[in-house]
Amino acid sequence: MSSENTAIVVGATGILGREIVKELAKDFKKVHALSRSKKDDCPSNVEHNFIDLTSSAEEMANTLKGVEAEYIFFAAYLQKDSEQENWDVNGDMLLNYLKSLELTGAVKHVKRIILVTGCKQYGVHLGQVKNPMLESDPWLRDTSLYPPNFYYRQQDILREFCEKSHPEISWVVTYPNDVIGFANGNFMNLASGLALYVAVSKELDSDSKGIVWPGGEAFYTKFDTFTSSKLHAAFCKWAALTPGTANQAFNVVNDDVASWQDLWPRVAKRFGTKVREDQFSDSVGVGVKWKSETELPNPPPIALLAGEIGLRSGGGDDKKVNVPGSKLEQRVNLTKWSQEKEVKEAWDRLAEREGLQKDAFEKATWGFLDFILGRNFDVVASMSKAKRFGWVSPPSIDTWQALDEVFGELEEAKVLPARK
Ligand SMILES: NC(=O)c1ccc[n+]([C@@H]2O[C@H](COP(=O)([O-])OP(=O)(O)OC[C@H]3O[C@@H](n4cnc5c(N)ncnc54)[C@H](OP(=O)(O)O)[C@@H]3O)[C@@H](O)[C@H]2O)c1
Repeated sequence: MSSENTAIVVGATGILGREIVKELAKDFKKVHALSRSKKDDCPSNVEHNFIDLTSSAEEMANTLKGVEAEYIFFAAYLQKDSEQENWDVNGDMLLNYLKSLELTGAVKHVKRIILVTGCKQYGVHLGQVKNPMLESDPWLRDTSLYPPNFYYRQQDILREFCEKSHPEISWVVTYPNDVIGFANGNFMNLASGLALYVAVSKELDSDSKGIVWPGGEAFYTKFDTFTSSKLHAAFCKWAALTPGTANQAFNVVNDDVASWQDLWPRVAKRFGTKVREDQFSDSVGVGVKWKSETELPNPPPIALLAGEIGLRSGGGDDKKVNVPGSKLEQRVNLTKWSQEKEVKEAWDRLAEREGLQKDAFEKATWGFLDFILGRNFDVVASMSKAKRFGWVSPPSIDTWQALDEVFGELEEAKVLPARK
């Protein structure tokens, strides 16, 4: 059923933004999709507007005259080399975009702004977190211990904009984790990197012994929570339109807790291969040649709560905590593996034979995958708060199904060989 609702999605071509556009287009009267590039064909109720969020508020206001709506979804992200640059650039992009709404006058139409961030909120990139992660957990604001986190700056900017300058506008923030999704021409994506690794490993597995888990041995049996980009989009729409969710932040993850011990054999089977029975044995050459391990230097985020939850080690120092040291471990370090001559040649052969997008392999963000699969601690986000506010997860979305679907989309886009 169509509604009179209107929306602006900023970062409309991204893994998360693209699905928000698709979800809103189902029943919103009008959706403005904003980004630097245009990648998808849009239905008639979606209008694409080119925008560079790194330009000034005045420049943006000139480009965005007449672009008005009641609900704004901010899912833009520009990856920089350091956390300080991420803080500066991603914070400024939001700040200047909000200022541009004031300059065009569009601000008077806005009812709610939804900001997309993620579970780096809890420091999942810095070391062991307290599990499950709750929205009320402390922020890692002490910059003598932790790098700056641009999500904090963005949330501060949004709150100040709404609560101080525009109290009639409410806000919602989402914290997705390990997103499973698809975006045209964007390979910073767990599913595409993983599937490319499987496809090339299978190509190299001439004696059909099976494939080897590239992540850490510890993480293989730990628990993770993933976010289907489709589920996240449905959540954003619900959170925008539900009066009671005003001025709240929510974890947004699938309704299941997943583990690679369950997913990895299913991934292998889906691509017509199997997991090597002895994948963690030192006699498996592939896992010895590209093995790596890095200590995470900061105190693990759980240290902030160590005293309160009874995990402080002796000596009364808040930062000393009774948990194993946090590390990133790779059985097959994909950053190194992907640079090997034999690996690149195997991809070229496969891409040629199957008519695939040649640049898919070099565009894959192997470092991102090394991180996602390499942690040696559980990463479980609680959905209890969202459920208390009335969120009901679509029953059709679970983690395996989300992965399977995205693999299908990647096959269709000729990033992966067609399923035989
Ligand atoms: N991907 C994950 O696994 C994941 C997990 C948890 C949280 N998150 C968070 O979710 C948020 C969205 O990330 P994502 O992964 O969806 O990002 P993404 O796929 O890289 O998409 C980023 C979007 O921002 C747009 N954009 C970037 N720079 C821009 C600029 N200067 N002007 C206008 N638009 C610009 C891009 O469009 P154009 O390039 O066309 O301009 C694209 O639409 C981020 O805060 C991210 O940290 C992501």
